Amino acid sequence: MTIEAERRVALVTGASSGIGKSTAIKLVARGWRVIGVGRDPRRSAAAEAEIAAAAGDGGFTMVRADFTLMAEVKRAADEVASRTGRLDVLINNAGGVRDRQIVTAEGTEATFAANHLAPFLLTRELMPLLTASAAAQPPGTTRVIAVSSTAHRMIDALDFGDLQSLGGFQPALAYGRAKLASILFTRELARRAGPYGIVAQAMHPGRVASNFAAHGDEGLRAYMAAAETVSPDEPAETLTWLATEPQGGRPGGRYFYQKAEETPSPAAHDDAAASRLWAESETLLAKLGC
Ligand SMILES: NC(=O)c1ccc[n+]([C@@H]2O[C@H](COP(=O)([O-])OP(=O)(O)OC[C@H]3O[C@@H](n4cnc5c(N)ncnc54)[C@H](OP(=O)(O)O)[C@@H]3O)[C@@H](O)[C@H]2O)c1
Repeated sequence: MTIEAERRVALVTGASSGIGKSTAIKLVARGWRVIGVGRDPRRSAAAEAEIAAAAGDGGFTMVRADFTLMAEVKRAADEVASRTGRLDVLINNAGGVRDRQIVTAEGTEATFAANHLAPFLLTRELMPLLTASAAAQPPGTTRVIAVSSTAHRMIDALDFGDLQSLGGFQPALAYGRAKLASILFTRELARRAGPYGIVAQAMHPGRVASNFAAHGDEGLRAYMAAAETVSPDEPAETLTWLATEPQGGRPGGRYFYQKAEETPSPAAHDDAAASRLWAESETLLAKLGC
């Protein structure tokens, strides 16, 4: 086996900015090979140059995709699979809040699509790579990590009658639902993929001074401007710890903040909702031809 084949590989979505970019820099600095996903052309190009410089040895590649569109998620997954034969860690970080309801060309609501449906599909498409990597390593080495949010606490339960917030739309509530979905997906994934040696964990990054607020409405921008925030490097430190240290490899379905386990809301512990969300997500993707 060559040294290159022995090098660990991570995929970090949302690597063109904020938390994802900082996480990619930390992982390449540890000698990992990292593939990033970015959306905005200018931010992606600038981040690619910065992360590649930190890697210094061709250990970073940026893939471009808009994760509100499942066709693009599938294309990105194919591109990743063509670039690597192994995948040790998948960090589903891309996402954020929107200032208004945006219904995509595929008919999905953008907040739900980017924060939940895209990571669900990406993880499913990359499962062959993840299971192959897991089979070759000790259990718990292969990890899928979701960047969720305390915003999930705003939601008492998912509304399966309007999972995507296509009806009455409030940006913050749509975001809270999508981030609750991230934790429920993580718990169900942990249950399903655990037997293959793959762990799935979720985390909350804190209030972070990134480009996050720029995509939100005036109220969110004012809230974030007044809030005490941390640098993206702080949650990136926790994500790197979850990706590389033994604590992140403990049996999955856990939720972390600042390198410590926390208890998410009661709604995030609803196993029946987690199972139903999985089935509804599959149905929705099938309708989209994915
Ligand atoms: N900042 C906070 O206070 C905070 C709090 C709780 C949770 N979070 C979560 O942390 C994660 C990272 O956010 P951040 O704070 O680092 O914000 P950020 O600086 O705006 O970075 C978000 C990243 O996600 C990418 N992204 C967003 N929507 C996308 C889409 N539709 N398709 C593809 N890529 C997309 C962005 O791509 P482009 O820049 O190329 O468009 C960017 O790389 C998000 O999931 C966010 O919800 C953030």
